[in-house]
Amino acid sequence: MALLTLSSSMAQSVTSSASSISPRDPETCLTCHEKFAKGQVVHQAVKDSCMDCHGEMESPYQTPHKSKGKFKNGLSAAVPELCYGCHAKKNFSGKLNHDPAFTGECAECHNPHGSDNFALLTKSPSESCAECHASLKKQKHVLAGISGKGHPVGLEGRTQPVEDPLRPGKPFYCGSCHESHRGDFGKLLRHDPKLGMQVCSKCHEM
Ligand code: HEC
Ligand code: HEC
Ligand code: HEC
Ligand code: HEC
Ligand code: HEC
Ligand code: HEC
Ligand code: HEC
Repeated sequence: MALLTLSSSMAQSVTSSASSISPRDPETCLTCHEKFAKGQVVHQAVKDSCMDCHGEMESPYQTPHKSKGKFKNGLSAAVPELCYGCHAKKNFSGKLNHDPAFTGECAECHNPHGSDNFALLTKSPSESCAECHASLKKQKHVLAGISGKGHPVGLEGRTQPVEDPLRPGKPFYCGSCHESHRGDFGKLLRHDPKLGMQVCSKCHEM
């Protein structure tokens, strides 16, 4: 055990001295661009290497450096093609599509670097949906006919995030009931609406 600890800390010091000369190590970039690895959620790609996306930058050792490629910011491709390089395009279309994901507007919802929100969202989860579906902020959703109150949708200003009963560790928000990219059921619902009230009993004891 002691041996293992020793050898891994040695390995670390070796890589960190070697990394100061490797543009692939994010630390090379973060000495000047520290804000890009900030946030409670940092994109794994950012932790791996800035160069996976910014492969067409002029040398990081001459500043300021500009793009030497076709795309701004030295990106190796534009969004969404950049994203499809690692996240298979086929996962963003299906039987039913969500317009902004299907048309590749990934950045409408996600920050490519880091964020304080679940899933690298640019806003808190339900707020990021209400950005375009603003009527949800005022209209009662789903249960209006039954209880008159409507079902909570994550816009009720809870001080603590509520957990999704079906997906431990994830917040309860619009995406607990709806898919965000593509879906199999009408209104992009996660569960077959033909189940009727049985859908409710997935989350509630009834
Ligand atoms: C010595 C400091 C320094 C280092 C190291 C550094 N940058 Fe920069 N970078 C700058 C400065 C200064 C600018 C210009 C700032 C501005 O335009 O506001 C800049 C601009 C940029 C831009 C915007 C370019 C444009 O077309 O406007 C990108 C993207 C970028 N850097 C990425 C990187 C990446 C990736 C690395 C690591 C491989 C890196 N930088 C390393 C200082 C640095
Ligand atoms: C997953 C791909 C990806 C990775 C990895 C990535 N970036 Fe970016 N970066 C982007 C995209 C996309 C933009 C353009 C954002 C826009 O147009 O608003 C961008 C823009 C930038 C800019 C210029 C725009 C600005 O807000 O000033 C800088 C500087 C930058 N990135 C630095 C970095 C650094 C430093 C790293 C590594 C720590 C990094 N990026 C890793 C995708 C990435
Ligand atoms: C160089 C490869 C690479 C590129 C390019 C890339 N990603 Fe990722 N991304 C990853 C890896 C690795 C993970 C972590 C494993 C996973 O979830 O697949 C990840 C995870 C994510 C997550 C989930 C984050 C979380 O914590 O839940 C989102 C959202 C995401 N990426 C969005 C994007 C978007 C948007 C783009 C384009 C701007 C993009 N990615 C480009 C490699 C990449
Ligand atoms: C309308 C907003 C929106 C758009 C547009 C969008 N996403 Fe997402 N994405 C989300 C949300 C919300 C989640 C979290 C889903 C959940 O609750 O598990 C997510 C999750 C992800 C994940 C994590 C793995 C997964 O599938 O759950 C990746 C990777 C991802 N998005 C990449 C992308 C890429 C690439 C694009 C562009 C082609 C894109 N997203 C467009 C909202 C969006
Ligand atoms: C960038 C704008 C934008 C964002 C952000 C956005 N949507 Fe959408 N959404 C649309 C558009 C455009 C349509 C298709 C037109 C319509 O039906 O309103 C749509 C359609 C839908 C539908 C299907 C409506 C139907 O009648 O079939 C659902 C459900 C939905 N969105 C849920 C969400 C959820 C959940 C989020 C957050 C993860 C979200 N949207 C974020 C633009 C957006
Ligand atoms: C408890 C589950 C649940 C939650 C949470 C939820 N929805 Fe829905 N949503 C539904 C159901 C079920 C329908 C279908 C209603 C119908 O067909 O009458 C629906 C319908 C929709 C539609 C289609 C148009 C409409 O208003 O009927 C949109 C758009 C939509 N939801 C967006 C959202 C957004 C955005 C959020 C978060 C702010 C959200 N939903 C939260 C279950 C939910
Ligand atoms: C994906 C899980 C999920 C599904 C499906 C779901 N709910 Fe809920 N429901 C919740 C969560 C979580 C809360 C608490 C949200 C909060 O307090 O912010 C809640 C709250 C409620 C409330 C409000 C309780 C209160 O104290 O105000 C009622 C009523 C309710 N649900 C009924 C239903 C009915 C009826 C259905 C089926 C049409 C349904 N729910 C489907 C997860 C779900």
